[in-house]
Amino acid sequence: MPTPTRTLRRATITGLGMYVPERILTNRELETLVETSDQWIVDRTGIRERRIASEDQATSDLAIPAAQEALRVANLSATDLDLIIVATCTGDMGSFPATAAIVQDRLEAKQAAAFDVVAVCSGFVYALDVAAQYIETGRYSNVLVIGAEIMSRLLDWTDRNTCVLFGDGAGAVVVQAAEEAADEGILGSILGTDGSGVWLLNVPSGGTRSPLTPDRIADRQQYMTMRGKEVYRFAVEIMGEAAVQALGAVGLQPSDVDLFIPHQANTRIITAAAKRLDLPMEKVFVNVDRYGNTSAASVPLAMVEAWKMGKIQPGNLLVTVGFGAGLTWGANVIRWGNVTP
Ligand SMILES: CC(C)(COP(=O)(O)OP(=O)(O)OC[C@H]1O[C@@H](n2cnc3c(N)ncnc32)[C@H](O)[C@@H]1OP(=O)(O)O)[C@@H](O)C(=O)NCCC(=O)NCCS
Repeated sequence: MPTPTRTLRRATITGLGMYVPERILTNRELETLVETSDQWIVDRTGIRERRIASEDQATSDLAIPAAQEALRVANLSATDLDLIIVATCTGDMGSFPATAAIVQDRLEAKQAAAFDVVAVCSGFVYALDVAAQYIETGRYSNVLVIGAEIMSRLLDWTDRNTCVLFGDGAGAVVVQAAEEAADEGILGSILGTDGSGVWLLNVPSGGTRSPLTPDRIADRQQYMTMRGKEVYRFAVEIMGEAAVQALGAVGLQPSDVDLFIPHQANTRIITAAAKRLDLPMEKVFVNVDRYGNTSAASVPLAMVEAWKMGKIQPGNLLVTVGFGAGLTWGANVIRWGNVTP
């Protein structure tokens, strides 16, 4: 594994915000759509309900309020932003432009470059590491990182294997250079990919490999397909492993962690990872029960909620872990500063 970059200056989170659509879809309602039950979904996944964007909402409509809240908390105006990164696999427009460009325009962040990161459920963890790299090298000082998804548009509502698992939402953080003397910020990250797993979780058609045709649409190939058991096995393994690797890379270990913020895909995966890390569940943040798997929005939504609930205090050590299609995974180790609402 490559040695982590020597930190020239540290990047720290100074603002955070979130937005979820109003519409709540419960397991009971799903019982009327597919052959499933509240009991099955809760037992196998821990999910009780998820949010669903309205028909007139696009991903940037979720990203904007989350970003505005993060900017307000950071006490930063959009014109001060140097860079906007949107982690998403459900952009406003099919292939281009980047959703980040739409966000940049709507925020009137006139000085900011903007691009998307597509690492699916690991997207926010990847994007946070990218932001940290730009800040550590001194290239940029004020970066907005957003994880935003409308997963409900990728779901085949006749496929019970997938449609019960996902939801919509957005979380955002402002990342800035930490004061030199402050012992805070993103201490390090690890990222990983195993592209041989591309077939386990994907949207088969709509790209250049298999453009959409009437036949493919009739075959529902514009929607997500997943081999759940294999993804589950990968997830259980990688979640603990990625956290251990990221902590080890900065000379720390799981016992140093105050709060574990895992990708919210499934409580069984989260519990297995906590066990592997020997962390009591009080040190693990879980909100998958209320939002389902929101892909790139999952880690920031969990981080924002944990912070709003007072579960993250100045000086706390956090570790985030994302994993998802690609296959991809990643983890960030963060020493929390002093962020006030
Ligand atoms: C999807 C998942 C919850 C299924 O749980 P599981 O314990 O592996 O269940 P199985 O795949 O063994 O399925 C058992 C049965 O339940 C059925 N089933 C699947 N979805 C169902 C649903 N929503 N309701 C009821 N039954 C369902 C299956 O068809 C299967 O039936 P069969 O034995 O007659 O074929 C689990 O595999 C999982 O969480 N995988 C990871 C998914 C994930 O996190 N993806 C995103 C990664 S970012």
